[in-house]
Amino acid sequence: MPTSAKMQTDLIGDWVSSLPEVYFRLKAALDNSETSFDDLGKIISSDSALVARLLKIVNSSFYNLAQPVENITTALSFVGTEQLSYLVLAASVTDQFQGIPKDLVDMKKFWKHSLACGFAAKYLSSRRGGDGLESMFLAGMLHDIGKLVLFKKLPDASRKVLEISRDQKRPVYQVEQEVIGYDHSLVGQELLRAWKLPESLVDPVAHHHDPFDSEDYQFKTATVSLANILANTCGYTCGNRSFDLDPQMDSVGIVDLNEDELERISEEINTHLDELVSFFF
Ligand SMILES: [Fe+2]
Ligand SMILES: [Fe+2]
Repeated sequence: MPTSAKMQTDLIGDWVSSLPEVYFRLKAALDNSETSFDDLGKIISSDSALVARLLKIVNSSFYNLAQPVENITTALSFVGTEQLSYLVLAASVTDQFQGIPKDLVDMKKFWKHSLACGFAAKYLSSRRGGDGLESMFLAGMLHDIGKLVLFKKLPDASRKVLEISRDQKRPVYQVEQEVIGYDHSLVGQELLRAWKLPESLVDPVAHHHDPFDSEDYQFKTATVSLANILANTCGYTCGNRSFDLDPQMDSVGIVDLNEDELERISEEINTHLDELVSFFF
């Protein structure tokens, strides 16, 4: 298995430098206790396409606000500064993965799966009265991001993985471990660390195929794992050539859901997903 440093140079380096500067400026400003809402608003407002996308998300049924929000400073007061930085990343990330061979992935399908998972992770957390809902949305949305890195950097190996996975009806991550030596969860972990996201968000991505491997964030990890399964069972699968359903239903026990709740959340995903997808494409 490659070291973290080797992975940085060989695999994920392109995406660390391509992420919009506004995201890193925002992270730096958040680390400074003197920073005001106005300062943060100005940083985000320097990217008008990003502002438009963020306002669409915040004004959607995703938030259900009583009054529409017209500027970023007001959005910050509703969503919270750190949580808005997660939305900034979510709103920027879909543009960062261009030029991946089409036979490996249908990008729209990939992001639909990812957004369904993000939506479900946020919904599952909200019913527990959890805070930091945007971080759960982002963790869900990014859970399979390592796949895109592998498709772009190791297309031939990825092609082989998808063929074996489809022919033998085995989960992609298991075949990746055999063919490549590690899987997309590990690549996702390294990329999210390079983006300076907190471990509470990195860990659920790193262990989304085996929540029992998470030591410190098992509940959040199980939430993302279950959200992934729900996205798949609602029909929003990730790949066009892979076998994606895996029987990680252990997560249901950790997250403690009953049948009615599972059905309700599936309805919510089906109701809101198209609107959510429309913000990103
Ligand atoms: Fe995955
Ligand atoms: Fe997935």
